[in-house]
Amino acid sequence: MSSYGGGRDGALTVRPRRLRATPAMRRLVAETRLNPAELVLPLFVREGNEPRPLSSMPGILQHTTESVRAAVNEAADLGLGGVMLFGVPDAKDAIGSGATDPDGILNEATRVVVAEVGDALVVQTDLCLDEFTDHGHCGVLDSEGRVDNDATLLRYRDMALAQAAAGSELLGLSGMMDDQVAAVRDALDTNGFENTAVLAYSAKYASAFYGPFREAVGSTLQGDRKTYQQDPANRREGLRETMLDLEQGADIVMVKPAMSYLDVLADVAAISPVPVWAYQVSGEYAMIEAAAANGWIDRERAIFESVTSIRRAGADVVLTYFAPEIARALREPLL
Ligand code: PBG
Repeated sequence: MSSYGGGRDGALTVRPRRLRATPAMRRLVAETRLNPAELVLPLFVREGNEPRPLSSMPGILQHTTESVRAAVNEAADLGLGGVMLFGVPDAKDAIGSGATDPDGILNEATRVVVAEVGDALVVQTDLCLDEFTDHGHCGVLDSEGRVDNDATLLRYRDMALAQAAAGSELLGLSGMMDDQVAAVRDALDTNGFENTAVLAYSAKYASAFYGPFREAVGSTLQGDRKTYQQDPANRREGLRETMLDLEQGADIVMVKPAMSYLDVLADVAAISPVPVWAYQVSGEYAMIEAAAANGWIDRERAIFESVTSIRRAGADVVLTYFAPEIARALREPLL
């Protein structure tokens, strides 16, 4: 007799709904939970004295080195795992000089944040040139205007040293140059920074969902990043990039964006011996905010569902602009 034969040939014995019957039961059997310690907050820091709101990311600011203090103290009070800093320089040039200047905005912001909350949070920095170049690419260009992989690695090495010297504990290598993890690891190890860790944006796709980030860092990118970021059509390639980064010594690997790449995330989580993170990017944030502002979705439920799904697919930690809000909501009684 089939146990699923309810109404046909006898008693129904398998009832999955039993475990969904009450809030307390659902809470008890939940396979995935959100914890503030597993969330990282990305923060933008600009030069100048006034924080600036971002029209494409409602609720998110370009901070100043002054206003970021309160933001990181709040992040620490909420028990977040860390912050990922992005610099927004006033002046940009072809090689992204501001990235390696010890007094460049990102390095200055790093020192400020480390002094403020360095004991409570893991202070991380974006290691990529696009915020600092006038052409907006993640690397330097050759005479034909193409992104020059190996010349860019030299810039990344210098950038890594500047960030480590400023106190960054975890360098977020988001440029998608071949061999970038090995190059940065070597630069760190041969200059006394063997304890500075590398977060490799291993499977990073050429995504429309980075759209609002362009406003956030004042990027003037002409063209696209398709010669270095991955094609959204490719799943296998995400594993290949991850394996290369693992061989080169990545301490943590990441998949980005998150929601459209949960299959890649699950693949990476299945093979990775190191922590696997995912980045819920600016466009993912903006879509939820825009739909909620129109009354088309329930904002808080959409936030929790999206981040829970990213964790369920295999991310140990999620970078998300919603991190403070999730942490605050988790303080409320659950039932
Ligand atoms: C590269 C970088 C980007 C993001 C994080 N690091 C932009 C890009 O690769 O085009 C996007 C983050 C977001 O959209 O929230 N510096």
